[in-house]
Amino acid sequence: MNTEFKDKVVIITGASFGIGRATALAFAREEAKLVISDVQDKEGESLAKEIIKQGNECIYVHCDISKPADVQNMVSEAIKHFGRLDIAYNNAGIEGEMGFTADGSEDNFDRVIGINLKGVWACMKYQIPEMLKNKKGVIVNCSSIAGVVGSQGLSVYVASKHGVNGLTKNAALEYASQGIRVNSVCPAGVQTPMLDRIVETSSGLKDQMNAMHPIGRVAQPEEIAEAVLYLCSDRASFITGHELLVDGGFTAQ
Ligand SMILES: NC(=O)c1ccc[n+]([C@@H]2O[C@H](COP(=O)([O-])OP(=O)(O)OC[C@H]3O[C@@H](n4cnc5c(N)ncnc54)[C@H](O)[C@@H]3O)[C@@H](O)[C@H]2O)c1
Repeated sequence: MNTEFKDKVVIITGASFGIGRATALAFAREEAKLVISDVQDKEGESLAKEIIKQGNECIYVHCDISKPADVQNMVSEAIKHFGRLDIAYNNAGIEGEMGFTADGSEDNFDRVIGINLKGVWACMKYQIPEMLKNKKGVIVNCSSIAGVVGSQGLSVYVASKHGVNGLTKNAALEYASQGIRVNSVCPAGVQTPMLDRIVETSSGLKDQMNAMHPIGRVAQPEEIAEAVLYLCSDRASFITGHELLVDGGFTAQ
């Protein structure tokens, strides 16, 4: 078994469901020490118990990433329990309301930007100083193909994910010489509760969604987790400031 991540302290946000959950389980298989967080506490706590039952170390911390005080507390809990921070996967995000730009509400704008963009900024703000103490660390932020191309009806989401790629590149430049790598992962459609909510909005959308991907299907969350683990591994030691498309060929079209 590859034990590269054995005893590495890893924070994952939005870990109760979907890609975050799959990534937590993937790091647990590699014997990392996990700090998982979310706003859906019941499912997060039950995931932590599942991981501990498998023989790994894990704590669950409530953290709404749009609240910097929650984020600061999550990072403090990581340090309190495990003494340092090696890796962070800033995964949590929401799709927000569907609708064309001129029809969107200010509330939706503030909520999507507050979670997807300010949340990732807050995570890095508190994670980076801990990594600097060890002159080593890896951060992966969750963007999307919507961080690279537009998507009709999802303008604020698209803006937030383009912003995540911008924050990622800047942090990568600022800390590259101090041992910290920062990259983003940009999935296309992934079979998660988020995608279920999106395809529910219109009949036939599920089939259309599969057909939009040259590979002929959406991804499984475990396929995104693999890309995150790769970016966090020493195999990616020269990769920083990169937006890794994991999109079944979507943006090659
Ligand atoms: N599913 C897709 O098709 C897809 C595609 C591209 C990118 N993404 C991105 O992947 C990431 C994970 O998405 P997913 O599909 O697993 O979504 P999901 O909705 O299935 O799961 C997201 C998790 O984040 C949590 N969360 C929501 N708001 C939060 C907040 N304010 N603070 C902390 N946690 C919060 C939720 O409770 C949930 O556990 C998101 O950033 C999303 O934008 C998803």
